[in-house]
Amino acid sequence: MTQTHILEVRHLHVDYNGYAVLKDVSLSVTRSSITVLVGLNGAGKSTLLKAVSGLKAWSSGDIVFAGTSIAGEKPAMLVSRGLLQVPEGRHLFPRMTVLENLELGGYLRSARQRREDLERMFHLFPVLRERTDQLGGTMSGGQQQMLAIARALMGSPKLLVLDEPSLGLAPLMVAEMFRMIAAIRDEGVSVLLVEQNVKQALAHADYAYVIDRGCITLEGPGSELAGSDEIHAAYFGTAAH
Ligand SMILES: Nc1ncnc2c1ncn2[C@@H]1O[C@H](COP(=O)(O)OP(=O)(O)O)[C@@H](O)[C@H]1O
Ligand SMILES: [Mg+2]
Repeated sequence: MTQTHILEVRHLHVDYNGYAVLKDVSLSVTRSSITVLVGLNGAGKSTLLKAVSGLKAWSSGDIVFAGTSIAGEKPAMLVSRGLLQVPEGRHLFPRMTVLENLELGGYLRSARQRREDLERMFHLFPVLRERTDQLGGTMSGGQQQMLAIARALMGSPKLLVLDEPSLGLAPLMVAEMFRMIAAIRDEGVSVLLVEQNVKQALAHADYAYVIDRGCITLEGPGSELAGSDEIHAAYFGTAAH
């Protein structure tokens, strides 16, 4: 049986110490697509991703990955099922080389698969091939972000979840980052991308959701939302037309 959606968040409620942070959030990620969740700082984006990766319990609702609820599952189990996340701030091993970081990302794979995956990563991110022996922590912010994404891809994800990968990157690097994410989608990986960089994220989204203070307020194809008056009024301070 094949499901259209690799991930479904259904009527999710999450709170911190009794304070509601996510209120009745529903969204889904279609297979082999880029789904974007945009919203201002504090809207609840990272909290949603923590729930999706098994790091934060929810009070009601459900999250279904590849047809099965992830309720009560440990993060490591979700990784082995193919749900991989690059958290905000990247979390590389700064004192390990590029190659060591990548090999660690593929620790669940066989040696042969790992060699093949490594070749794919070098094809996708040529800058990493040139720097296999460089320590992760000495690379530029953009290169570290590429390495963090490549490391997650070494785990052969069905769903790749990215929390603000463009944060702190120079504009040219941001454009490169979004191109990479599109290339990853084109290889058949489903992507859930969380961003405050609303304009560029919507431009690359197959489908997008807007979250505001814990509630999904708008959804639709990326191109449609990019042209909507609500988005322009709320995030760019102008009307679309
Ligand atoms: N560990 C925590 N304990 C208490 N409150 C938290 C915690 N993490 C996040 N919050 C609160 O939850 C809300 C949403 O935060 P977050 O999910 O990080 O938003 P975003 O990623 O959209 O910026 C904010 O009001 C934040 O202060
Ligand atoms: Mg966040």
